[in-house]
Amino acid sequence: MQNKTAVITGAASGLGKAMAETFLRAGYRCLLGDINIANESQDENIIHKKVDVTQYNEVENLINTCVNQWGKVDVMINNAGIGPKKLVKTADFSFEDWENVIAVNQTGVFYGMKAALKQMLNQGHGNIINIASLAGLKASPNNISYSASKFAVVGMTKSAAMEYASKNIRINAICPGYTISPLLDKMFQYKPELEEALKKSIPLRRYGEANEIADAAIWLASDQSSYMMGQCITLDGGLSL
Ligand SMILES: NC(=O)c1ccc[n+]([C@@H]2O[C@H](COP(=O)([O-])OP(=O)(O)OC[C@H]3O[C@@H](n4cnc5c(N)ncnc54)[C@H](O)[C@@H]3O)[C@@H](O)[C@H]2O)c1
Repeated sequence: MQNKTAVITGAASGLGKAMAETFLRAGYRCLLGDINIANESQDENIIHKKVDVTQYNEVENLINTCVNQWGKVDVMINNAGIGPKKLVKTADFSFEDWENVIAVNQTGVFYGMKAALKQMLNQGHGNIINIASLAGLKASPNNISYSASKFAVVGMTKSAAMEYASKNIRINAICPGYTISPLLDKMFQYKPELEEALKKSIPLRRYGEANEIADAAIWLASDQSSYMMGQCITLDGGLSL
């Protein structure tokens, strides 16, 4: 993967961090963006840059940094995502938890695709991977904004994939089930009784590992998945069955 570049959002933690490690190991040059980066840094193969995916100018700046540094953006992974502060039924759901989750998970993915696509059209190729969720395929009670945002990511992935299929740009999504990460920890802190109960409902009887999601992402980014477009890979230990 010499000289291939990947931009990953939400790369400071969890799935994004695992994807960064996997792509770096495979020889990609990685631009790692996150809202939670104390010190920006840069060397030959890795740049850590602060970005808030809810701000289009910052996302555009992230893409421009990759192009200025390495000349192109081969892969864009729209991974940054959050959950609501409170898991409650729709009538009780706060406006804040609605707006914040939609801004990061849904609008952030639109901004990521828009900025990356402009560059990918210029360079004549590209590969976009959006991190959706099992919650984008089936019901997620007490989680209305997350549910809305992840169904939206699946829809945006399919619609945009059709638009750019003829331009040598592939767009796919990954729908992880419950995967060990700080995001999942936060949910279990809020509802500790869920941790064991949920595990029992997963046919593989365990939570996913972040590197298992990263392995799917690197396959989607590679030519080995060249006939795959507009699809969502579900990695959930069989939970959706
Ligand atoms: N962990 C799971 O079980 C699971 C399951 C399905 C889908 N997902 C999805 O995977 C993605 C990664 O989740 P994770 O579990 O690694 O969570 P995480 O909380 O460990 O990591 C998310 C990262 O996104 C960053 N981020 C948050 N808001 C941002 C913003 N406005 N701009 C830029 N960066 C921002 C955070 O700082 C954090 O580093 C999310 O889209 C999430 O919805 C996770």
